[in-house]
Amino acid sequence: MLFEPIAFGNMKVPNRFVRSATHEWMAEPDGTPTDRIGDMYEELARGEVGLIITGYACVNPNGKSDNLQQGIYDDKFIDPYRKIVSRVHEHGSRIVVQIVHGGRQTMMTAENPILLAPSAVTNKRNGVTPEEMTEEEVLQIIEDFANAARRAKEAGFDGVQLHVAHGFLLSNFISPYTNRRKDRWGGSTEKRAQIILDIIERIHEMIGDGFPILVKLNATDGFPEGTKNTLDAPECVEIAKILAANSVCAIEVSGGIVEAGQEMFRSKIKTADDEAYYRDYSKMIKEAVDVPVILVGGIRSKAVMEQMLEGGYADMISLCRPLICEPDLVEKIRKGETEVAKCVSCNLCSDESGIKCNYDFD
Ligand SMILES: Cc1cc2nc3c(=O)[nH]c(=O)nc-3n(C[C@H](O)[C@H](O)[C@H](O)COP(=O)(O)O)c2cc1C
Repeated sequence: MLFEPIAFGNMKVPNRFVRSATHEWMAEPDGTPTDRIGDMYEELARGEVGLIITGYACVNPNGKSDNLQQGIYDDKFIDPYRKIVSRVHEHGSRIVVQIVHGGRQTMMTAENPILLAPSAVTNKRNGVTPEEMTEEEVLQIIEDFANAARRAKEAGFDGVQLHVAHGFLLSNFISPYTNRRKDRWGGSTEKRAQIILDIIERIHEMIGDGFPILVKLNATDGFPEGTKNTLDAPECVEIAKILAANSVCAIEVSGGIVEAGQEMFRSKIKTADDEAYYRDYSKMIKEAVDVPVILVGGIRSKAVMEQMLEGGYADMISLCRPLICEPDLVEKIRKGETEVAKCVSCNLCSDESGIKCNYDFD
């Protein structure tokens, strides 16, 4: 099943493997994507990754979360992205750009000292309190996301993935912990998801309804089980249902916000049971929606990958760190040359000089 094609939106993906969005620290300081990023994506496409999701690209320079992060906030980025997209398409892979605003995890700088968020909830990890967005600011962000999707289409991308995970702006909106608003974008589950529907509506107005929109969705904020008024199941299932009913063509299931600890890229993955650590969430979501579900988080062995697809946990397998370590992992699995990724989940690949595997295997 791992090597069966799958179709959604208007795209056909040659197999079930996804490169999960991975910030590379390889863009120019203004966010322009570089040949180095193109080299990396081409290597992944040559290594038979069916669907490549780019590193997170900010829709507004004031929503940047890291150095050397890609941007998609200006039309000047369309041409460099077009070159990268065509390099990937030459090898038969599909490529989608992940679009993001940093929200309360935006990088604070002298030029950008104020963090925008749905509500002024202090981040207990760093003591920083963001500012509650005004209605005008919310409307501007909706416009920014829609313009980013327009640029993505013009650059030839196969779709966009809205980053609604990991504590960035859109995941701030869906969580009752970070969204305490009382207007049309806060309160009930539906209202907390409303900004996403508004973005989708504006994308449709700008470029029609044929351009695939995917979502990377937080299933949980990642606080200790039972912590009240935070995002978790079953509410994430309700949100997934709302998205699937409103033109989202595939949902990647992840979890964790920075304040709650390093949930999204766990380091201790020793056994098959440690793998696929969001599997229970993705199963619940898959049972409730009729669009493909993509599972990410700690998937390392062919056996678990097959178990996830055959056991009804997910339709696609998404990998981040294993593909930094072995960009040709998918090809090697297909050829029967390996059954388990070499990645030891040490996280040394988060390297500000450009992601690479820095583990010493000797
Ligand atoms: C270096 C690094 C950069 C990442 N950048 C992003 C990103 O830009 N967008 C995103 O949604 N997730 C990002 N993630 C999270 C991964 O996409 C993925 O959800 C997580 O690493 C778990 O998958 P894995 O066990 O296969 O690595 C990043 C993770 C790492 C290690």
